[in-house]
Amino acid sequence: MVLSAQGELDSIRYLTNRIRKNLFAPWPKGIMGSVLVADHFDRSEIRQNSGRPRRPAFWRMRLRPSLQGASMKRADPRWYYMVLALALLPAGVRALTWSSAPVHVLDSAAVAAGKTLFNHQWKPNDPLANGGDGLGPVFNANSCVACHIDPTPGGAGGQRHNVTIFTQLPTRQGEQKRQGVVHTQAVAARYLETLNKLSADLPVTSRPALARRNSGTDFDFDFIIPAHVQLSQRNTPALYGAKLIDEIPDRVILAEEKKQRLHWGLASPASDRLPVGRALRLPDGRVGKFGWKAQSGSLLEFVQAACANELGLGNPASAQPQPLGTNYMPVKLDLTNEQCQQMTAFIAALPRPIVGDAASVAARGKEIAAGAKATLAASPTIAEAGLRLFSTIGCAHCHTPDLGSVEGLYSDLLLHRMGRNLRGGGSYNGGSVVVAAGPEGFADEWRTPPLWGVADSAPYLHDGRAATLDEAIALHDGQGARSAQLFGALPEVQKTQLIGFLKTLRAPVEVR
Ligand code: HEC
Ligand code: HEC
Repeated sequence: MVLSAQGELDSIRYLTNRIRKNLFAPWPKGIMGSVLVADHFDRSEIRQNSGRPRRPAFWRMRLRPSLQGASMKRADPRWYYMVLALALLPAGVRALTWSSAPVHVLDSAAVAAGKTLFNHQWKPNDPLANGGDGLGPVFNANSCVACHIDPTPGGAGGQRHNVTIFTQLPTRQGEQKRQGVVHTQAVAARYLETLNKLSADLPVTSRPALARRNSGTDFDFDFIIPAHVQLSQRNTPALYGAKLIDEIPDRVILAEEKKQRLHWGLASPASDRLPVGRALRLPDGRVGKFGWKAQSGSLLEFVQAACANELGLGNPASAQPQPLGTNYMPVKLDLTNEQCQQMTAFIAALPRPIVGDAASVAARGKEIAAGAKATLAASPTIAEAGLRLFSTIGCAHCHTPDLGSVEGLYSDLLLHRMGRNLRGGGSYNGGSVVVAAGPEGFADEWRTPPLWGVADSAPYLHDGRAATLDEAIALHDGQGARSAQLFGALPEVQKTQLIGFLKTLRAPVEVR
C-alpha cells in the first residue's frame, strides 16, 4: 500500500465522516443491517442562542437502535473506532518515522569556511586534509569549482568535465556487481584508471569522448562496449537554489507522484509513453532528490559523496574510492563532518536562479543569435506566450512550474523513462547509495532536471549531449516523446516563444 500523507489524511477524513454520519444522521432503513438514530438526546441541548439545532457533544450522545432496525443486530460503535484506529495506524507510524527535510539556518562563518573549501585547489597530503592523503589518489579535478563554475562558482560545467560512470556486471558465479566512477586523473601513474581495467576489450583511456552516431539522435562512445560493462557520463549541474530543493518535504514529491498516476488513470511509472513519474525511494525509506538519478536524499549526502568521488577526499559518510585494479588503503579520513557541513552551507547559501527580464534575455542570449530570434525573445509577451505553450504542449507535466512551496522550479523531482537513446546505467555515488531501491530502476530513467537557470547551464541532458535548448527538447523520447513531437510541430514563431521563455530562466548573477 503506497499512500502519501495527504492520501492517508484523505482516507482518515473519509472514515471519520462515515463514522460521524453513522452516529448523527439516521440512515435509511435496512442499510448495513443496523440503523442508528441520533434523536434520543436532550433536545434542549441542541437549541442554543440561534435557535438552530446544534450538534450535541459527541461524548454525550446516547445511541439506540432504531425501532425499524431493532430486529437486526445492532452495530457496536466501538467497531467504527477500531476501524478508525486501524486506519490511523500507518499514518501514525509514518509520522513517527518520517524524517523531516532539513531546514538550513545559514551561519555566515560556516558559509565562509565552506566557500574556502569549495574553491580550494586540493593537493596530495593537503594541509586542510587533517593528516589524510588529501587529493586522490584518483580524482576528476582538484577543486569543486573546477567543474561547478559557469557562470559563477557553484554553477554548471561543460562537457569536458563530464564524469564517466561504469557498472560492471558479474561474469562468473560469486562475482559482485560493481559500480563507480572511472576517474580521469591520479596522483601517480600506477593509480590511473583506464577503461581497459574494467574489461580488456576496452581502450586504454580515462576520458572516453561522447560521439554522435549516424542516426543523429544516437549518442554513444566510439568503441564497442562488452555486454557485461555499462558506461555512461554525467554532466555537471548548477547548484543554485539547492537549499530550496533540500527543504522540500518527501511528502510533496510523493503527492506529485500520486497526482501523476491518478491523472493518467493509474498508469504505471514503468510506462514508456505516458508522463508518469516515479519517486526514487532510498533503502531507508526517504525520497531521493539530488543527482541525475535522484540517487541522493539530501544536499549534505551529495556533498559528502562528491568530496569522495570527485576529489578523493574520504569523510565519515563516504569513503574515498579505491583506484581500479589496486588495493590502495588510505591512512586516514581527509575531511571531518564539520568540513562537509561547511561546504553544504556554502552551497545552501547560493542564491536561487532568477527570472531575467526581457532586456537581459536580449543582451545575454547565448544561443539566440543576433537578429530576429533575439528581438522576439526580448519581448515579455513572447516569454509569457512561451510559458503558456510550455503547459499546453505538456512540458509542465514533468517540469512542473512549482513544487510544494518552491516557485519556478520547473521539476517534479521524479524519475521518468526517456527512451532507449537516453539510456545510462550506473550510479554516481558508487556503492554508497543504491541507484534504485528494490527492483532495479530502468536505465533510461532520469530525474526531471529543474529548468530554473537553464538559460545559463548549457550543455544539456545527463551527459551534456545537447548543445542547445532546441536540441535538448528534440532528444526527449519515451515519456517525453509526445510533448517533444508537439514542440517540433509548432510553427516557428511559437517555437521561438517557448525557447524565449526558457531563456528568461537565468543563473542568479547580475546581468551586464
Ligand atoms: C569533475 C567535475 C566535478 C567536480 C570536481 C565536482 N562535481 Fe559536483 N557534480 C558533478 C556532476 C557530473 C554531477 C552530477 C552527478 C550525478 O547526478 O550523477 C554533480 C552534482 C553535484 C551535486 C548535486 C546537484 C543536484 O542538483 O543534483 C552537488 C551538491 C555537487 N555536485 C557538489 C559538489 C561539491 C561539493 C564538489 C567538491 C567537493 C563537487 N561537486 C565537485 C561534477 C563535479
Ligand atoms: C516525461 C517528462 C518530461 C516531459 C513531458 C518533458 N521533459 Fe524535459 N526533461 C525530462 C527529463 C527526465 C530530462 C532529463 C533527460 C536526460 O538528461 O537524459 C529533461 C531534460 C530537459 C531539458 C534539459 C535540461 C538540462 O538541464 O539539461 C530541457 C531544456 C527540457 N527538458 C525542456 C523540456 C521542454 C521544453 C518540454 C516540452 C516540450 C519538456 N522538457 C518535456 C522530462 C520531461
